Amino acid sequence: MESPDLARMRLEYARAGLDEQDAGDDPLPLFSRWFDEAVAADLHEPNAMALATATHDGRPSSRIVLLKGFDARGLVFYTGYESRKGRELEDNPRAAATMLWHPLQRQVRVEGAVTRVDDSEADAYFASRPRGSQIGAVASPQSRPIPDRQALHDRVTEVELVFAEREVVRPPVWGGYRIAVETIEFWQGRESRLHDRLRFTRAGDDWTRERLAP
Ligand SMILES: Cc1cc2nc3c(=O)[nH]c(=O)nc-3n(C[C@H](O)[C@H](O)[C@H](O)COP(=O)(O)O)c2cc1C
Repeated sequence: MESPDLARMRLEYARAGLDEQDAGDDPLPLFSRWFDEAVAADLHEPNAMALATATHDGRPSSRIVLLKGFDARGLVFYTGYESRKGRELEDNPRAAATMLWHPLQRQVRVEGAVTRVDDSEADAYFASRPRGSQIGAVASPQSRPIPDRQALHDRVTEVELVFAEREVVRPPVWGGYRIAVETIEFWQGRESRLHDRLRFTRAGDDWTRERLAP
């Protein structure tokens, strides 16, 4: 059951909508505000996003990843560099990501070029993760076929032995990617399907803002 607070927030956002004045000229503060509101609404994993990548010849694939940071440089997530998405991004370094904050009737779509985060940034994030997740990241050859679940447990046991009584070191095949935002669209659900859609497109150091038909 939805909490009364969430029901009230949902109604208020739908009523208020998203207007140009409210959105401003720079999408970052708006994204930051929407993200904070999704957190405040106590949504489950408000940082989950569908990430689309494609092979060099344009075959798309998508999956959910977690947004772990954002600023003017872009949106950061962490993964295996040799995973399917990692291999696609090395070949074709562009991505699209979509976040859905359903109870707030909000969607955000981002597109842009992707680069790896610096080693120091990836090291710092890896070090902040629980030990079990660190071991898992080292043990799992993400996206590769494995014979069975036992094979994974065996790998975990091996890795635990290697790092017994010392810090787990970030494997070079695991790290972060940053999507440099080239376009970002904010979608706010409204009555009678007359939703608000504002799209920002980077133009040098500035942004152009357009309203799109729903
Ligand atoms: C809620 C949720 C969060 C996830 N977060 C991540 C993540 O941050 N990084 C990641 O590599 N995989 C994450 N996954 C797993 C991916 O969806 C996917 O299975 C995995 O990255 C392999 O994808 P690929 O084979 O297309 O590279 C998450 C899955 C779910 C359902």
